[in-house]
Amino acid sequence: MNARHILVADDEPHMRRVLEIMLRQAGHQVFAAADGQEALEIARATPLDLVITDLRMPRLDGIGLLGRLRDEGMEVPVIVITAHGTIESAVDAMKRGASDYLLRPFDVEALELAIERVLGAAEMTRQNAFLRDEVDRSRGGFIGGSQPMQQVYGQIRQVAPSKTTVLLIGETGTGKELAARAIHAASPRKDRLFVPINCAAIPAEMLESELFGHTRGAFTGALKDRVGKFELADGGTLFLDEITEMPMALQAKLLRVLQEGTLERLGSNRSIALDLRLVAATNRNPRQAVDDGRLREDLFYRLNVFALTLPPLRERTEDIPGLVAHFAAKHGRATGRGVADAALVEHLAGYAWPGNVRELENMVERALVLAGGGPLRAAHFPFDVPSAAAPPTPALEVPSGTLTDAVDALEGRMIDHALARSQGNKTQAAALLGISERTLWYKLKKHRGGEPD
Ligand SMILES: Nc1ncnc2c1ncn2[C@@H]1O[C@H](COP(=O)(O)OP(=O)(O)OP(=O)(O)O)[C@@H](O)[C@H]1O
Ligand SMILES: [Mg+2]
Repeated sequence: MNARHILVADDEPHMRRVLEIMLRQAGHQVFAAADGQEALEIARATPLDLVITDLRMPRLDGIGLLGRLRDEGMEVPVIVITAHGTIESAVDAMKRGASDYLLRPFDVEALELAIERVLGAAEMTRQNAFLRDEVDRSRGGFIGGSQPMQQVYGQIRQVAPSKTTVLLIGETGTGKELAARAIHAASPRKDRLFVPINCAAIPAEMLESELFGHTRGAFTGALKDRVGKFELADGGTLFLDEITEMPMALQAKLLRVLQEGTLERLGSNRSIALDLRLVAATNRNPRQAVDDGRLREDLFYRLNVFALTLPPLRERTEDIPGLVAHFAAKHGRATGRGVADAALVEHLAGYAWPGNVRELENMVERALVLAGGGPLRAAHFPFDVPSAAAPPTPALEVPSGTLTDAVDALEGRMIDHALARSQGNKTQAAALLGISERTLWYKLKKHRGGEPD
């Protein structure tokens, strides 16, 4: 066995001495402490592979030491030493995270066996975590081994090393942002910044200065010089999300910057050279957006160098079990494996998933609440639209009046509907709406006035 750093804590000098000798002879580096407090101080100062501690000690006892180690984020394995009289305390220690116990009196073999077992298990855990990370990284955080997703991974690997502009196309929640990050992470620019900007989330009049930056006094309210997202992404990757929501005039400027590879901050005529990788995304059909006058045709050609389409979830239902397991584990189940049985998978595969993976994640989170620790069942996933073959929803009648009033009215109706469906349960209603409970609370207050209850 390799030499390990092992801390021995025992208040009895003779026992401490015996342990030290046995461990030194086995080739380990040994640290000794006369009580839990001293042991804790050594553990804080020295990286340790193992702690072997007596249970009864003055100042801080063995259980106390274990608690403090864990509280301070030290995951070092702990073996407790116990006599017949205190075996219950040893069991208690195991429940609190000790790895093993040694029954006094013990011989060298018993000691070595326990050490080997504990250190072997710790090594295994580390290796598993490492392997899991490796698998995750190679897929950039994506789950799903279906044919369409394999194609996506292949395209990401193919395009990542170059500086080629990528246009990500796909419905909402299909993983466009995940793909953009995966491309960056697999590129030579991975140690520089990945800078996302959502063109739909920033008011049109602020978008230009967000993108290109400005100098002090460039416009009313420009009190300081400001670096834009383009400059921030220099050397790295700029992710322009919802590109079709960018005003047409700004699209013209964007195209110019992309073609020239330089930009000027608003209010300045100093031109700044840029070296960045651009990834753009849209959940519309980009050609349709060109026809509709939402996307400049020349910009479309400039972005469409390498188009990558993220497939909707309903076209790769074989990924559903893996995704459910992943999200169940993410949202609190110790293990997601086996959480969905065949009947449930069939139920989930029959739904159209307009919100794709994001909707599935919200649904799983909500189902876990409903299932309360028990197995997940179809009843925990009540869908309004029972199947992918359901008739399309009728076209929305265009309301008159201001946009704000119309949006408010629709918002109120959707909230009422969600609350009715969840029998007034706000956690579930928020999950149905895909918003946080806090946001729901705020909106309820706005719509109903005063307190929501
Ligand atoms: N294949 C997948 N495996 C695991 N998680 C996924 C997968 N696809 C998407 N997700 C997760 O689903 C959520 C939505 O993904 P993302 O934000 O990338 O979607 P999007 O296509 O950008 O959606 P939108 O158009 O609404 O912005 C994220 O939390 C993302 O991590
Ligand atoms: Mg997105």
